[in-house]
Amino acid sequence: MNTLIRNGTVVTARETRAADVRIEGGCITEVGPSLPANPADNAIDATGMYVMPGGIDAHTHLDMPLGDIVSADDFETGTRAAAFGGTTTIVDFAIQERGTNMRDALDTWWKKAEGRATIDYGLHMIVTGLGGSGLEDMDEMVNEGVASFKLFMAYPNSLMVDDATIFKALSQTAKNGALISMHAENGGVIDVLIERALAEGKTAPIYHALTRPPRAEAEAVHRAIAIAEIAGAPVYIVHVTSEDALDQVREARDRGVPVFAETCPQYLLLSIEELERPDFEGAKYVLTPPLRPKEHQAKLWEGLKHDHLQVVSTDHCPFCFADQKTLGKHDFTKIPNGGPGIENRLQLIYHYGVNSGKLSLNRFVEIVSTAPARIFGLYPRKGEIAPGSDADVVIWDPNAAHTISARTHHMRVDYSMFEGFEVRGNARTVLSRGEAIVDGGKFLGKAGRGHYLKRAARGGAWK
Ligand code: URP
Ligand code: ZN
Ligand code: ZN
Repeated sequence: MNTLIRNGTVVTARETRAADVRIEGGCITEVGPSLPANPADNAIDATGMYVMPGGIDAHTHLDMPLGDIVSADDFETGTRAAAFGGTTTIVDFAIQERGTNMRDALDTWWKKAEGRATIDYGLHMIVTGLGGSGLEDMDEMVNEGVASFKLFMAYPNSLMVDDATIFKALSQTAKNGALISMHAENGGVIDVLIERALAEGKTAPIYHALTRPPRAEAEAVHRAIAIAEIAGAPVYIVHVTSEDALDQVREARDRGVPVFAETCPQYLLLSIEELERPDFEGAKYVLTPPLRPKEHQAKLWEGLKHDHLQVVSTDHCPFCFADQKTLGKHDFTKIPNGGPGIENRLQLIYHYGVNSGKLSLNRFVEIVSTAPARIFGLYPRKGEIAPGSDADVVIWDPNAAHTISARTHHMRVDYSMFEGFEVRGNARTVLSRGEAIVDGGKFLGKAGRGHYLKRAARGGAWK
């Protein structure tokens, strides 16, 4: 069916203007003032609304195994919750478990998503080793549209790779045009701090944060950037939490090094005190890297405003409080790391960014949609309102008031990190490839309608 979105204000990363949007065959075909309506068109009145590209969340962990448990949202519940909040594309992480190969990991994650995803999705590959044909396997992944890889500088006994592996992987992406994402924390130092804390009987959730100091993050960011420079490859730092880490990113970008970085709503809006909540509720806020003292938040907002940080993603990695977070009741190292947020990203960044005057409307669209599309090889198919782009469109009501709560959210998890936060601005209607999947608080999509996105590797053209 063809659709005409009328009377709205189109907002992109570049401009804000009164314009109608015509959608045919799932794509945008025309954007302009007072477009003529055809009698057969489905007309959507967007008076008083912003018409924006759908949100792109470049960092999610749906159906993610962790020891004996799995993250609480699968590709159906997680993508449905994402759609309610105006996100129409995610890029999730397949994991090459130690000793297995990337091909098997990709097949496994395709099976997890197939028949379940309600919005379009891409996959990054978490690389835990490059033995055997590892480097060629990276090229094979790129051919499959996995145009980015995540490496861990933390978790020595499971995911961490050494500097030689980091250098080899970065060197490979210098050739094949993919992008390395880096979890930057000094895992060796952190493990010693954890050992010391446990030996002193310090087992409460707060010690998760105290054993992962900002300098351990900054050191790893510095090292990751230096190795990327030697390899001649761009690098993307995931979940930046602190002024210390941000300084490293900014310093490198000022020198013209192709470094990109994201932060997440939790680091912009929550602080380390949350981990001291009584009755073990601090476990709800055990994330890695951890929440920081409040003063870091203003620095991260400034970083977003001035393009030292390019993207806000969620790192949505939900574990239920009742039966998953409590596994670490007597030992903070056993608390599954991660928190929910896939549904609330646009609401939070719009309210605390745009409404509070920290970000312009266009910068908001850029950091939640256009920049992740560009950086992760989806632009201009995604992240844009222009002829030829997929009709992934959010009709955003800037005046809709909403109180975030686990009682009403759509994520399959029994708490919200932002419980009781009152925000103004919310998605009213969400279109994915021209199909209304959310309208007025109702879900109209269906499981399995989401497509796998083959993303482009773009070596050389990093902006
Ligand atoms: O605590 C978190 N963020 N868990 C997800 C894994 C990661 O490092 O992104
Ligand atoms: Zn990480
Ligand atoms: Zn993550």
